[in-house]
Amino acid sequence: MLAVAVLAAGKGTRMKSALPKVLQPLAGATLVERVLSSARNLAPERRLLIVGHQAERVEAQLSSIGGLEFVLQQPQNGTGHAVQQLMAPLKGFQGELLVLNGDVPLLRAETIDALVRSHRDSKADVTLLTARLEDPTGYGRVFADANGRVSGIIEHRDCSNEQRSNNLTNAGIYCFNWAKLAEVLPKLSTDNDQGELYLTDTVQLLDVAMQMEVSDPDEVNGINNRRQLAQCEGVLQQRLRDHWMDEGVTFVDPASCTLSEDCSFGSDVVIEPQTHLRGACRIGDNCRLGPGSLLDNAELGCDVTVVQSVVRDARVGNDVAIGPFAHIRPASEIGDSCKIGNFVEIKKSVITSGSKVNHLSYIGDAQLGANVNVGAGTITANFDGKKKHLTVIGEGSKTGANSVLVAPVVIGKNVTIGAGSTITKAVPDGSLAIGRAKQFTKEGWNA
Ligand code: UD1
Ligand code: MG
Repeated sequence: MLAVAVLAAGKGTRMKSALPKVLQPLAGATLVERVLSSARNLAPERRLLIVGHQAERVEAQLSSIGGLEFVLQQPQNGTGHAVQQLMAPLKGFQGELLVLNGDVPLLRAETIDALVRSHRDSKADVTLLTARLEDPTGYGRVFADANGRVSGIIEHRDCSNEQRSNNLTNAGIYCFNWAKLAEVLPKLSTDNDQGELYLTDTVQLLDVAMQMEVSDPDEVNGINNRRQLAQCEGVLQQRLRDHWMDEGVTFVDPASCTLSEDCSFGSDVVIEPQTHLRGACRIGDNCRLGPGSLLDNAELGCDVTVVQSVVRDARVGNDVAIGPFAHIRPASEIGDSCKIGNFVEIKKSVITSGSKVNHLSYIGDAQLGANVNVGAGTITANFDGKKKHLTVIGEGSKTGANSVLVAPVVIGKNVTIGAGSTITKAVPDGSLAIGRAKQFTKEGWNA
């Protein structure tokens, strides 16, 4: 039997943030979600989350994850005090307790699996994850012999200078024999620099404590401040880009691009510099994204180019050119072989295949048929001050430069709208509509 407990009650004072530390985002997911997901392979019997600082907010964030038991720690008197709160909910529990600090988000599931296996093999009372760090500043130091047997952990701030030269650090990830831990938990004292109850002090109170060193020290990066947050973001982004380069995506300047874990790419995609993909983006074969673009929950077919543009919550077909400087906003659908050009904003609109919106337009709440040509500067006036209204343009129609289509309005098929028109009434199929003042010219007037 296995129970997993995540320590997520701390405030994260060093972050200097209104957000509880464990809710800080990293590549699209919060720290605590990442920590929980690192134990995903283990199928534990119980999953407990220790909450305290802004507990309701943390619980609300995790409400969609089933089977979590929230345990309140009030006040937050240290990591040992946090685990003491499990005495009641885990009374009589037989098995291992895996304790995960809520601020260690880069752990691989395989590493956690290996820790639990190693703990079960050695039958120790506790097995903890360690790393040798080039700069161990801030971490607890682990004192262990050559066989991996641990005599104790001393926090950085409680170490002597000589003890600080030991660079074997505590990752904050422990597999305990719960019954043994429950015996020593009441014995913790606050005799340390912070005056808190330290979970790390249980190690010297237990008979057999073992350590397992990780091979990739990046995995155990703990996040206590914004610099470490940025460092971890960097590690995650590197992992994501490496993965997709291995899968056949080209990055012209990898370090300048960021991805989310929910992105996927077809073959021979090229990502130009300064391009960022967030949310669940699906990118088809041979797309070329960037430079300078942001895609958020965007679904692109094959052979799409996006230059200096933003595409958000939108679907785009095959063989489409977007930009430079276009903004495709939520609930938009762009069909195959469309062209969305310079300084164009599209919102909640369907643009059917072969249509072109090439220059300086706003198209909102509109439905365009196939092969429509929207002239430069055409605007759908969709808002009457209270409500949004629909504009429909039939297939094969053309709007002249600087047309205003005042919604609700229906333009039929194969219609031509004269340049500079303000259209307020329906236009039947095949017509020419011009709605502007007639030109008045007074010859010789300047003389
Ligand atoms: C802790 C370890 C340190 C280790 C480091 C690894 C202790 C005493 N020290 O230090 O040895 O090297 O992690 O990153 O455990 N928390 C609570 N309740 C509390 C206090 C903290 O739930 O009362 C939670 C925090 O939300 C956080 C985690 O426990 O997720 C760790 O707390 P933190 O204050 O970051 O400990 P460190 O100083 O990093
Ligand atoms: Mg920490």
